[in-house]
Amino acid sequence: MRPHVTINMAMSVDGKISTRLREDFSFGSKEDRRLMDVLRARADAVVVGSRTVASGGWAIRVRDRDIRRKRVASGHTLHPLNVVLTRALDLPSTKQFFTHSQTRRLVITTRAASDVRVRRFKKCAEVVVLPAKRIRASRALTLLAERGIRRVLVEGGGALNYAFFEEGLVDEIYVTITPRIIAGADAPTVVDGKGFLAANLFPLELVSSRRKDNEVFLRYRAVRR
Ligand SMILES: NC(=O)c1ccc[n+]([C@@H]2O[C@H](COP(=O)([O-])OP(=O)(O)OC[C@H]3O[C@@H](n4cnc5c(N)ncnc54)[C@H](OP(=O)(O)O)[C@@H]3O)[C@@H](O)[C@H]2O)c1
Repeated sequence: MRPHVTINMAMSVDGKISTRLREDFSFGSKEDRRLMDVLRARADAVVVGSRTVASGGWAIRVRDRDIRRKRVASGHTLHPLNVVLTRALDLPSTKQFFTHSQTRRLVITTRAASDVRVRRFKKCAEVVVLPAKRIRASRALTLLAERGIRRVLVEGGGALNYAFFEEGLVDEIYVTITPRIIAGADAPTVVDGKGFLAANLFPLELVSSRRKDNEVFLRYRAVRR
């Protein structure tokens, strides 16, 4: 059975998840960061795309001490496995994502990654080199299931999120609407990629909605077709 897949994203009112320069900046409030920690604490692995690591590159951790304590008490590791999907592995290995002492890492890449890069990243992560041109989300989930991962949190960006929607692999999505307009046709949105056509949209049902101060917290579940 494939792992359960949750996506969590914070967006502007106009649906953007960063600026056109893909700048790394604090997006949500303290409340949103708490939700992020709660969802991370429920996950065995958190998966991100290479541009998310390139723009921020922070280690993916459960930062709230109480939430972390409860996670560990229920038999989990301190933090979920940090997973990045990248075809060519053209990333700086100096990013905190690859160096934090408390996190474990899995890099899923392809033969487009040079031997030199693969060797370099093997010093700080498990590296799986797929004999394919692209990395299918379903293939990534199989690799994770083989490592005992049952709950996956996908934290973007928009290109990676689409890969999971495209294959119908998303079970639920949390979206926080934050009070700003980012704008820009080239700014990434919650789900980018090629996109669906009208006859084939991905249906969701609203599970909950909550307002706190200036933000709205939405949770949707996938409707199975
Ligand atoms: N607001 C939020 O909640 C939030 C959350 C996360 C990220 N962000 C922001 O989102 C931006 C990055 O988003 P993005 O859409 O540009 O990039 P992304 O989804 O983070 O990364 C896309 C890259 O991942 C690699 N990849 C490997 N396999 C893939 C697959 N099956 N499908 C898609 N990509 C695959 C590709 O690069 P290779 O060439 O390496 O294969 C691709 O270009 C950053 O600015 C980041 O700060 C915001």
